[in-house]
Amino acid sequence: MPWHINDSEITPEAVFKDRRNIVKALGLGAVGASMPSAAQADIFDLFSKDKEKKKFVTQPLAFTKDTNYAKDEIVTPYNKVTTHNNFYEFGTSKKAPAQNSQEFQVEPWSLVIDGEVERPITLGYDDFTKLMELEQRTYRMRCVEAWSMVIPWLGFPLATLLKRAGVTSKGKYVAFETLHDPEQMPGQKNRFLGGGIHYPYVEGLTISEAMNDLTFMAVGLYGKSLPPQNGAPIRLVVPWKYGFKSIKSVVRIRVTSQRPPTSWNQLAANEYGFYANVNPAVDHPRWSQASERRIAEGGLFSAKRIPTLPFNGYGDQVADLYRGLDLRKNF
Ligand code: MTE
Repeated sequence: MPWHINDSEITPEAVFKDRRNIVKALGLGAVGASMPSAAQADIFDLFSKDKEKKKFVTQPLAFTKDTNYAKDEIVTPYNKVTTHNNFYEFGTSKKAPAQNSQEFQVEPWSLVIDGEVERPITLGYDDFTKLMELEQRTYRMRCVEAWSMVIPWLGFPLATLLKRAGVTSKGKYVAFETLHDPEQMPGQKNRFLGGGIHYPYVEGLTISEAMNDLTFMAVGLYGKSLPPQNGAPIRLVVPWKYGFKSIKSVVRIRVTSQRPPTSWNQLAANEYGFYANVNPAVDHPRWSQASERRIAEGGLFSAKRIPTLPFNGYGDQVADLYRGLDLRKNF
């Protein structure tokens, strides 16, 4: 991905969070002092909104089944899973999502499943954990930038939702969409902070990929609800594809007859394909995909380099989906 923005170029967290400083810097405090008290209250309400916002708190979640799809690999520490992120809506550096998303409001939330389905469904925030039976799935996660993690997710198979909605015979693809809320997501307001992506972030799968049992809707990790930087309150996880397919903070899942557009493909079609299956034999135009750095304690460059596996090691479950397809052309 075009990581053209350095950490040092990103607006510091304080600029997003502490609007009081902006008030001071603009000298609005003095303006306020000469105003009638009601108007003064209004203007300060406006600027102190952030103060009233609840800090995000994760909640413990119960689950019924526990499957480890990463064999005996070491699970990535929680502090790494939640501080080394890609979530451009909150900034493009790896630390920005954790720094800039802690006041993200996810309640109320509404997730719509519609399009080519017999029974459109709308799920609210509580429905994800109360209507759906949660299971734990430990998966490898391979980013297209050649780093990887092992993460114990909590959630349910996407197929469970799609079956409840009843996909019609015209349903060939599934389109996903992230929340569009520039007030809460600074990257959506500012092209520079948001890495040039055209928001809302969108992704897509074929219907057979979406129905595969590995395709998962995650609502938590490490036994707790998802922190905002990992895609609260609900995100997709497709473990045999590069991480950019695993769209965060999803508000809409639409079954379609046509292949939907996808964000990274729109930005650079020669670098990011629709399929994006993990494939050590097909390099990114600017770097090799033959190996990856497995994130552990310590910095990225101390992380161990290991060989990348076709389909991220999930070939037994998914290779059949691509029989007869040229995976070099359909990267
Ligand atoms: N979803 C949205 N809405 N916005 C993003 O920027 N980044 C993607 C994906 N989902 C992204 C997103 C990329 S590039 C990766 S590698 C994964 O989220 C990272 O997930 P993680 O931060 O939970 O490890």
